[in-house]
Amino acid sequence: MYTFGITRKKKDKKVKKKKVIIDCDPGIDDSLALMLALSMEELEVLGITVVCGNSPVEMGVGNAKKVLQFMDRLDVPVFAGAAAPLRREFVNALDTHGRDGLGESFLPDVKGYDQEMEAEEFLARTIKEESCSVIALGPLTNLARLLRKDPESFGQMEELVSMGGSFKSHGNCSPVAEYNYWADPDSAAVVYEAMGKSGKKMVMTGLDVTRKIVLTPDLLEYMKRLDSRTGGFVERITRFYFDFHWMQEHLIGCVINDPLAVAYFADRSLCSGFESHVQIETEGISKGQTLVDSMNFYGKTPNALVLTQTDPLRFFQMFYGKILKRTAESLDLLPCLVRR
Ligand code: RIB
Ligand code: CA
Repeated sequence: MYTFGITRKKKDKKVKKKKVIIDCDPGIDDSLALMLALSMEELEVLGITVVCGNSPVEMGVGNAKKVLQFMDRLDVPVFAGAAAPLRREFVNALDTHGRDGLGESFLPDVKGYDQEMEAEEFLARTIKEESCSVIALGPLTNLARLLRKDPESFGQMEELVSMGGSFKSHGNCSPVAEYNYWADPDSAAVVYEAMGKSGKKMVMTGLDVTRKIVLTPDLLEYMKRLDSRTGGFVERITRFYFDFHWMQEHLIGCVINDPLAVAYFADRSLCSGFESHVQIETEGISKGQTLVDSMNFYGKTPNALVLTQTDPLRFFQMFYGKILKRTAESLDLLPCLVRR
């Protein structure tokens, strides 16, 4: 019997790329996050905007270019943004990230590839021209400046994912505050408020989930065995960070916060959480604290998706799979993880 049908050409399984701008303060874990994003065929990194944070902004631009050079991706433009927080004094985190902001790897500077355009101009133009999202891995100063400069384009962002804040985990800059929001609480406050007003929700990838992502010596050794070039680069920029974590909290390994925000953006099954209204304290001893109204005491409309659970094994399977170009099945990561 004849069956009539359209003989469909076998569609090549084209992965629809998600367009994204990465706003960051490289920074050791920012650099690992850039490596992950640039290795993901499902993401199109339209550009990198740099904000003062771990490193002064010019140092951060230089570090981003060093990572792009390692990844052979100097085609991705890097834009300098805010050199100081919205209101407060700039306080860097070079004690954590080393004098060069990249674990005292002192990699050679990448000459050229400089952009005239300022970060918020690039953000405003690109968000308007492309339906793209922003993954913010540093203080939210560039986003606050975009909001002030061009509120319309701010509202056109597909999504805003931020590594920052904390729901129930203790702070890393004060008993209650996480660095990105502690460094510029005023920017964090206006950005979260604006998300609420535009009916959108910030994806808050805070310390509750990122503290579970620990790069251990075994994981690093395993990476080096699988790929000496990539493993050697990661070791070079994280050695200082390992020492910092031992001195700071007697942790053998280092918490790599930022890559989880990228991983979650690409695969929503990696983390779970709940919607809530979140407000940032801007004054006093708890400045930078994220007040997560999980019980809705104040009856305000949720302006954030607060991530609280993640699966470190699945994260590292993705992280190693992408940057080492290996399938999850070919990796044996469980013996290298720590229980947190
Ligand atoms: O508190 C951790 C965050 O602050 C990370 O993004 C780290 O890179 C620093 O920016
Ligand atoms: Ca960062």
